[in-house]
Amino acid sequence: MTHSEPLVIGIESTCDETGVAFVKGGTLLADRTASSMDEHARYGGIIPEIASRAHLESFLPTLEASARGAGVDLPQVDAIAVAAGPGLVGSLTVGISAAKALALALGKPLYGVNHVIGHLAVDELVDGPFPQRFIGLIVSGGHSHLVLVDDIATSVRELGGTLDDAAGEAFDKVGRLLHTPYPGGPHVDRMANEGDPNAIRFPRGLAAGKDKERHRYDFSFSGLKTAVARYIEALEAAGTDIPAETICAGFSQAVNDSLTAKAVRAALDHECGTIVVGGGFSANSQLRAMLAERAEKAGLEVRLPPLRFCTDNGAQIAAMGSALVRAGVAPSSPDFGPDSQMPLSQVVMP
Ligand code: KG4
Ligand code: ZN
Repeated sequence: MTHSEPLVIGIESTCDETGVAFVKGGTLLADRTASSMDEHARYGGIIPEIASRAHLESFLPTLEASARGAGVDLPQVDAIAVAAGPGLVGSLTVGISAAKALALALGKPLYGVNHVIGHLAVDELVDGPFPQRFIGLIVSGGHSHLVLVDDIATSVRELGGTLDDAAGEAFDKVGRLLHTPYPGGPHVDRMANEGDPNAIRFPRGLAAGKDKERHRYDFSFSGLKTAVARYIEALEAAGTDIPAETICAGFSQAVNDSLTAKAVRAALDHECGTIVVGGGFSANSQLRAMLAERAEKAGLEVRLPPLRFCTDNGAQIAAMGSALVRAGVAPSSPDFGPDSQMPLSQVVMP
């Protein structure tokens, strides 16, 4: 099926957000999200069973609200897209089951898409058609990747990624060390803005020696996180007050130095004029500032969608579906299931 302005429903249920959006071509008609984060916060992490149940309860109301917002009757849609992975299996299963029921009832094609690539795809709805070729920096609680994109529907190549913790995960862990509420990322970000980023020099992973070349586009944040933990332990042992703002500032500086230096390097190496950023960690204020500054110096454009499109949402899945339909990619076979580890090399389920 090829269609220049397909009307697509996007369904996202990879983690704690239930998202449903309607997109026509490259235009977002409506986008609704329900989140179960409040139910997880007191446990200090996402509880998969709670997330799955919340998806079950939220799916129909979210679909109805989104369809109403878009002014769409379901039989009008051309295709349905659902996040097939990566994510929590139980959560994914709820969204996929709902999407399959809709596809069957409406007699429409169904695409099981990679939600991580969707974090980039959504930018088309905000900033317009993509350039011929660009670098994608995907940073979230579970992912930190650099990809080379020639066509978001058919050609996405992973250049590198984190060898251990994702950027958001590292922030959440440092938040835990400093006893912030969960997730710690936004709290560490806020504290970092009140400290001197150069007062403590924490190590940058894979930034020197042989590693620098062997892992040209990879990240590693676990050594940094351990360095922060040791620093705090030493202060505690000495009975000294913990300067949380200074620690956060030095830590954030180290994470964002790696992310931005490697994103710019990837763009220059591959003659891309544009870096597109996606994922919940792109809310980080220092990432935004440092990337803007370094990209400008290197003559690169940065496309960074507003925050509501950076966290998991239905619009990113609908955007993927629309791109796939427009590229003439065949729908997924009806028997695909969730893939919690769906690789970046796979844009869509066969
Ligand atoms: O993409 P996302 O909503 O979901 C996951 O993939 O988990 O990203 C959430 C992650 C969490 O780790 C959260 O702490 C982090 O992004 N995050 C931040 C900020 N806002 C969200 N990390 C640092 N600074 C922020 N301002
Ligand atoms: Zn995500």
